[in-house]
Amino acid sequence: MKNILELTPEEAAAELKYIAEEMAKSDIAYYQNDDPYLTDSQYDELKRRNQEIENRFPELIRADSPSKKVGAPLQSGFKKVPHRFPMLSLGDVFSIEEVEDFALGVKRFLNTAENISFMAEPKIDGLSFSARYEHGKFVQGATRGDGITGEDITANLKTIRQLPQNLNGTYPDILEVRGEVYMSKANFFAINEKYAAEGKKTFANPRNAAAGSLRQLDPRITAERRLSIFAYTWGEVSERMWTSQADFFTHLQQWGFPINPLNCLCQSIADIEANFNKLMENRASLPYDIDGIVYKVNDIALQERLGFLTRTPRWAIAHKFPAEQAVTTINHIRIQVGRTGTLTPVADLEPVNVGGVIVSHATLHNEDEIKRKDIRIGDSIIIQRAGDVIPQVVKVLIDKRPADSTPYIFPDKCPVCGAHAIREEDEVARRCTGGLTCPAQATERLIHFVSREAFDIAGLGSSIIEEFYREGILHSPADIFSLERRNGSDDLFAHQTGSVLHLEQRDGWGKKSVENLFHAINAKRTISMPRFIYALGIRQVGTATARLLAQNYGNFARFMQEMINRETGPLVAIDGIGPSMATDIVEFFREEHNLKTVNDLLREVRVENYIDTARSDSPISGKTVVFTGTLEHMTRSEAKAKAQSLGAKVAGSVSAKTDYVIVGTDAGSKADKAKELGIKMLSESEFLDLIG
Ligand code: IVH
Repeated sequence: MKNILELTPEEAAAELKYIAEEMAKSDIAYYQNDDPYLTDSQYDELKRRNQEIENRFPELIRADSPSKKVGAPLQSGFKKVPHRFPMLSLGDVFSIEEVEDFALGVKRFLNTAENISFMAEPKIDGLSFSARYEHGKFVQGATRGDGITGEDITANLKTIRQLPQNLNGTYPDILEVRGEVYMSKANFFAINEKYAAEGKKTFANPRNAAAGSLRQLDPRITAERRLSIFAYTWGEVSERMWTSQADFFTHLQQWGFPINPLNCLCQSIADIEANFNKLMENRASLPYDIDGIVYKVNDIALQERLGFLTRTPRWAIAHKFPAEQAVTTINHIRIQVGRTGTLTPVADLEPVNVGGVIVSHATLHNEDEIKRKDIRIGDSIIIQRAGDVIPQVVKVLIDKRPADSTPYIFPDKCPVCGAHAIREEDEVARRCTGGLTCPAQATERLIHFVSREAFDIAGLGSSIIEEFYREGILHSPADIFSLERRNGSDDLFAHQTGSVLHLEQRDGWGKKSVENLFHAINAKRTISMPRFIYALGIRQVGTATARLLAQNYGNFARFMQEMINRETGPLVAIDGIGPSMATDIVEFFREEHNLKTVNDLLREVRVENYIDTARSDSPISGKTVVFTGTLEHMTRSEAKAKAQSLGAKVAGSVSAKTDYVIVGTDAGSKADKAKELGIKMLSESEFLDLIG
């Protein structure tokens, strides 16, 4: 490791990033998976190095720096709490027009001309909690965690006076109340002042302070920090005794929960806009931080009809306040090469504080964006940050442009491998043509392969992958799974590096951490079909598409064979897969090296067949259905969503593989085709009876 005094600012920033990522990952492994991959001393060493670098380069301190994390000693974590009803997040929009689109979308989905009212609630910038009551008594508190599993914070929530220990009035036997824990601004300033006076580390903002205070293993510390709550939704309930969000707020109050006094029922977009403007104006003078407004369809029967997308409800949305901005200069424009070869320009900035976070890079998106905004090296610019979104350049301050400035010329060669970078017609992206011979593409693909929603291998961080790739230890995904075997043999990597070096002899590695790494890898030798497909990194195939493919093919070998045979008929028939996506999928399996990669992998891992366990008991689970004609009780999209949520595949056209055709009024050729093929046809009401 380099002496701290010899580090350049770039190297220091890179190392701080590396340490923050490694430690965050280690924290996750430790607290959420109870499966540490760094030893305590390795962890402490990273922490010390981080501190030393920060001491020398205080301007490079990251928002997510491990030195800013408070509390949570390593000795013991929190108990896990599975959420019976997941704690979801919300889709974001940034303008009143988008809110209007959302409201129109809701109406269209429900196919109604009737007015729909929305509850508008200030979006509190804190952390969500879930509090479980059994027979009116508070029994368990949990954080959101990843939405599926949270952490047990019962003792910590008990220290919050606003949270009722016993409910008043009438309540369901089982009731989970959810809401936000936050720290008031006044309290935040007071605590920071006190800590500064005592020479202790201060908090970056009230949200961090609330988070650090709630996740304390010693609840006495939580108690000292005087947190507050607002309640706004529910999880599991044995009996839902309310019919609207407004009604729920009335119950919350009767039970004894604090609700936000600025929650307001809106009957129209005009109401929504007026409320938004008023809150924007008052935002700074509120006693707590808010970062937007949440809109929820008020009527719960309608909410239920609207249902959910993958991770967010269709009946609610968050309208975020405009982002915070700052002025800085562009020191350099750097080109990053992604997994599929896309060249993405990134501006290296003079580090600047934007609303409490030090920002030193901004994405410039693509070639056209640079041209459109005429962004040049040396320019003074306004940047903005919205929530956790990567900072963006809003505009160039032309008045401040240096006299000798010249327009930026986008490279036509890959800066990493030197191959031509070309732009296909109708595409904004310029891509490196080097394929997997390009080190950047190869490493990005490996990084994607082990990422959270793919193989999710803790311990293989991006910097480790880069290093292993550079040194010839890892080239393609299958190499990850042969690593342990190769490490055990004496001619390990000899052919690549010219010297025998076992992993445990490498800088920064020890027996324990190597063991942990192999353990993490071996744990992933069996993988679900959607994860496997997603991990391959096929262009345009994200997690949702991967799931659709798994759902429709069920078995990976079958899917692959059909792709190799270029049988795209069934592929494009899948609702949600368009022609361009289908082309990318087939193209992927046409490439020799991709086939080799997949086949090598299949020798190392087992891909589970896709069985939708949650839905396997529905009468249409696994069936292929086609809708045609006009439906009476629901819109086409509502019907499709319903069928998919019950495990059916929805196809756009009738074929021999179709199980049911649901025929509305004025059905055309699809109904004829179904008759011809002898496929079971159902009227809308028969379909509704079938699915109950
Ligand atoms: S409702 C399915 N209401 O925003 C609906 N969330 O992006 C789930 N939040 O994780 C959330 N104020 O931490 C809801 N009045 C409010 C909220 C709110 C703040 C937070 C919450 C949630 C996140 C969603």
